[in-house]
Formats: sequence, C-alpha cells, structure tokens
Amino acid sequence: METLAVKMLGITKIFNNVKAIDRVDFELKKGSIHGLLGENGAGKTTLMNVLYGLYKEEEGEIFINGNKEEIFSPVKAISLGIGMVHQHFMLARPLSVVENVMLGRKSRRGILLDTNQTAEELKVLAEKYKMDIDPYSKIWQLSVGEQQRVEILTAIYQGAEILILDEPTAVLTPQEVDAFFCTLREMKDDGKSIILITHKLEEIISIDEVTVLRDGKLIDTKVVDDKVTKDDLTRMMVGKDVMFDFPENTKEPGKIKYCIKNICAKNDKGLSALKDFSLDIREGEIVGLAGVDGNGQRELCEVLTGLRKADSGEIELNKNEIINKPPVFYIEQGISHIPEDRHTTGLALNWSLKRNLILKELNKAPYVKNGLLQPKVIDKHWEEARKEYQIKSINGDEKARALSGGNQQKIILAREINLKPQVLIANQPTRGLDVSAAEYVRQQILNARNNGAAVLLISADLEEIIQLSDRIAVICGGKLMGILPRCSATCDIGALMMGKLQEVANCER
Ligand SMILES: Nc1ncnc2c1ncn2[C@@H]1O[C@H](COP(=O)(O)OP(=O)(O)OP(=O)(O)O)[C@@H](O)[C@H]1O
Ligand SMILES: [Mg+2]
Repeated sequence: METLAVKMLGITKIFNNVKAIDRVDFELKKGSIHGLLGENGAGKTTLMNVLYGLYKEEEGEIFINGNKEEIFSPVKAISLGIGMVHQHFMLARPLSVVENVMLGRKSRRGILLDTNQTAEELKVLAEKYKMDIDPYSKIWQLSVGEQQRVEILTAIYQGAEILILDEPTAVLTPQEVDAFFCTLREMKDDGKSIILITHKLEEIISIDEVTVLRDGKLIDTKVVDDKVTKDDLTRMMVGKDVMFDFPENTKEPGKIKYCIKNICAKNDKGLSALKDFSLDIREGEIVGLAGVDGNGQRELCEVLTGLRKADSGEIELNKNEIINKPPVFYIEQGISHIPEDRHTTGLALNWSLKRNLILKELNKAPYVKNGLLQPKVIDKHWEEARKEYQIKSINGDEKARALSGGNQQKIILAREINLKPQVLIANQPTRGLDVSAAEYVRQQILNARNNGAAVLLISADLEEIIQLSDRIAVICGGKLMGILPRCSATCDIGALMMGKLQEVANCER
C-alpha cells in the first residue's frame, strides 16, 4: 500500500527572477504530522501554495497517494482531498461562519444548500474537534483565534484528508494550543495527514517528522525523537546559534505616563467587552497584559488608539485627558500601535513597502517638502530599515502583499518603533516571526522602554510576557484580575487568566 500521502520532487518556484523555492523535495507520510520549519521568507508558504494549486511550479513533480497529479487550482487540490488553512485568513468578513463554509462547497453540491442543515453538521464537527464556534456568528465579529477555528472546520468539512496548516498556533493562546493539538491527534488517528508550519520549536514534541527550509532550499528532513533538540533545529534554520537571554532591567521606572481609568467599552457585537478597566503605565516600563484571547485585549488596544469609542472612563497621557479622540490624534501624541491583525489594520497591502514604512508620516517632513514627496529621503529611510530589520525584499517598490508573513510584520515594527513613541501598544508583536527575528524585535521593545517609552505588551506567549515585562497585568472577561510584579512570575498567572481570583495568593490587586 502507498505510504506517502504527498511526494514533491525537485520543486522550483520563481518570483521576479528570484527562486523562492529551489529544487525542494518533500514527503508526507500517511497518518503523520509533519512540521515545516524555516526563517521568515524561507519559502514554507510558497511550497505549500504550490501543493494547494495556488502557484504553478516552474519545475518538479507532485504525487498524491502515489499518483502523479497536476494541481492547477485549489479546486483541483480540494478534489484530491487537500485542504489548506492560510497564514492570513481568506474568509469573507461580512458573511456568517456557515455562509463561508457553504461558499467553499458550491462547486461540489450546487447552491441549493440548506443553511440550517449545514449549521447543524458544523456544530457536530466543531464539537467532535472541541472547537467552540457559533455557526451563525459573522466573521468580522470573531477574534483571530476564532476565525482560525472556522478555517480549520471549513477544510475538514470539505473533506480534507491532507491538511496544510500555515502557522496555526501563532494566533492561539497556550490553552487553545493544547486543545488544538488534541484535535490534530484525533485527526491523525482518523488517518489524516497533516503539514504544520510553525515557528514555535517547542511544538515539535507533538510532531512525527520535521523538514527545514533555508533560503528556498531543503536543509534536511528528520524523524523527531528524543535526540532532536530545539538548538539543533535553530541551527538548521538559521545556520548559526541564537542567543536567548536578555539583561535584567536595572533602571527604576519613572513617573506615571499613561493612565487608563475605569474604561468601559463594547465589542463589535454590542456586548460589554471592557468593564471598569484601569491600569497605569510608567515612563520606562513594560507592562505585560496576559489573558486568554478574546477577553477584551483587542477592544482595549482599539480604545487606547482611538479606533473604538469608550462608553465611559478616562485616559491620560502625561496628565492630559485624551479619551475618544480620532486615531490621528493619538499618532500625533506619539502613541504607537502594533496591531494584532497586520492585514486589516497594520498595512496598506497594495502600497509599496517604502510607503508602508512611512504610512503615518506621509504628509510630513522630511518625507514631504512643499507638497512634494522626497524620493531620496524615502529611499534612504527604507534602506536603513531594511538593513536593520533584515527585511527580505527585492527593492522596496513591491507591494506589501508580496512579502512573506514575517517580513510584513517587520515593516510594521520598523515603522512604529521608528516613530520613537511615548507610548507603545504592542499587540502580539512577534507573532509569525522566526526565532532570530523575534529576538530582535524583543530587543527593540526593550530599547523603546529604555528610551523612556511606556509600553503595553499584549501577547499570547506567556514566556515572552514573563521575559520582557516589568509588571504583569492579567485580564479576564474585560476586567483587570490583578497585577503581578515580575519577580513573582511563578505566581499562577494561568489561574488569573481563567478568572480564578481567589486561588491566587500574594498578588497585589
Ligand atoms: N506572490 C509573491 N510575489 C512575489 N514574491 C513572493 C510572493 N510570494 C512569496 N514571495 C517571496 O518568496 C519568498 C518566500 O516567501 P514565503 O511566503 O514562502 O516565506 P515563508 O517561509 O512562508 O516565511 P514566513 O515565515 O515569514 O511566513 C519571500 O522572499 C517572498 O517575498
Ligand atoms: Mg509563510
């Protein structure tokens, strides 16, 4: 019996004369979970897009279940039992979950589908795989984590036997990640074959084999056993060792710079999302905000940057009241924002990289003088940022859309940190970055703090929060559950995140 679900042989994919993938071989065993690793821009998404029929390879052959196939479109891929959940979601935002799922099925069963029946079927599937999703919610009302569950559900519903997941865990909280791997194991036991792209090396414990790409080339494929270490994989990806340590913050934070008082706000569904939320952030201080995704973090960031109106409460910057002003006001006050969802709020995808880099200063000197753009200044600025953040691009004139996910994130970071912010609101700043890029960004956030910025760091990565924060605040159900000093990181943050206030001793509130 054929044991390989997928065999890709000598695949090459060229963009603008550059080989994004260079003669790569890849094999996926039936009923296994296979990790695909590599730095930002290594070619992981491209290789999988070839398998899913989104891109046509210039060279190479693909075999599915032992048969040679020409996969010229996603429809063809789906008919071969291949499903893909993309790094950036492809859901129709105004539609509901069930309507989105039905969009994907039109080609198979015609348009006369009973919405209610589909919704029921979805509920059963969602329950089986422990995904908490209401089929009638509109996509725009869902958190990023929830949207991803919809994508996975859609692929399974379409009958995927080979499932490609592009950085699925990047958007999940630790609790969700555990549930997600349970789901994967169940799918594996069902005989499904899974390809998992990830930057989180600790996840390889749950994986059978890994393949590492670097600069579009295959480095190696390894069976994961006790002998494979995180350091080995990092070396394979980066080509050298990476340091993981940061110095302690020896400076005491200064005066209160940013004061959030009793904020109440609603979410997109019109339900109460922030309940009397208060928090002070001092000059030269990083306050980490830990919490399960969807507990008011997004709404908080939006209120703090003028993207959402608060119903009540106050925000003071250096003792000046600034609540409910338009977004541009916050930009002018030096409040930088790294948004959770880089595609909808972080980048103008059809604009060039150079322009995206100065998106918030487009009508300002030195980039504009007497109403004219200054290309030389803009080019120089681009060149500096590209070098500093190691942005992998051709010349900066290409659209942001063409960049790999991690490189898009680097553009936002370069822009927001370059503004020398007074306040930096960083929501999942290292999401989707490879190990060395993530280390670099963490260093930049520390630098912003050392330069006196008040930093609010929101991250699903608890380790990151513990590593960088001077104090850790915990949010649950839109309420502040408590504030922990850094040294008591051993204190049970998890319990606070789940809303179990009373179980936690020694935490100041
Ligand atoms: N549609 C496209 N047009 C032009 N270049 C592209 C396109 N898609 C990808 N590339 C380029 O191909 C290379 C590989 O990109 P890819 O998205 O596969 O990287 P990746 O390994 O998935 O990285 P990341 O971890 O950042 O998501 C990058 O240099 C990228 O800029
Ligand atoms: Mg990618």
